[in-house]
Amino acid sequence: MDGAVIVNDFLASSERAVLHDFLEEEIFVSARLRVTTPPIREWDGDSRIGPAISSAPIPDGTGGGAEMIMPTNTPYDFFGRRVREYMIDSMQGSFIGKYGVDWATFRFRAFRYVPNSGLTWHIDGSCRGAFAYYVHEEWRPHWGGQLLVGRGSLPVSENQMQGIYGQMRADACDQGDFISPMPNRLVFIKPGTPHCVTPVTSAAGDRHRLSLGGYINSRTSG
Ligand SMILES: [Fe+2]
Repeated sequence: MDGAVIVNDFLASSERAVLHDFLEEEIFVSARLRVTTPPIREWDGDSRIGPAISSAPIPDGTGGGAEMIMPTNTPYDFFGRRVREYMIDSMQGSFIGKYGVDWATFRFRAFRYVPNSGLTWHIDGSCRGAFAYYVHEEWRPHWGGQLLVGRGSLPVSENQMQGIYGQMRADACDQGDFISPMPNRLVFIKPGTPHCVTPVTSAAGDRHRLSLGGYINSRTSG
């Protein structure tokens, strides 16, 4: 798969469980009300998001709009530290590039997809890459919520789809791969790779798709 890197069993199962229990108590708000920019669309349903966390102060001394900056003295900290360690130890030869040169910080937040919510096709804005980690305890294929990854790429300048009914260029997402949100799986997505989350189905019932997703800040683009 060109556009994504999959890391199974990213954390110890006990660590995933700690994150899960913590996020059960986290305060989520409607993503549509909180995030006013694409890719969230009217047809994406009522997905929920937690607060944004920055891995460290960014050079201007703020969290780049994040609501919390590590250390947060919550389980977000060990998750953020593990992601940082993994990117430094195992991803330097990839699109993410070299720590301290190409990137130094990242930001992430929790996402909770309830039945009939998903995320439409898009590419992420300017960054060194994106990641998603699946925190829920169980996932089955017919519950939906798959991450689809297009076999193609687009310039980042095309990430802003135009208007409410903006269209992703058809040639960028007419074929590709899917990744199930298996518990304890971490996925990295290459910049410029079209991707979406298929809606969670009613078969999932009250088992929401719970993830931590983020973006790696590029040092060159700030
Ligand atoms: Fe994305």
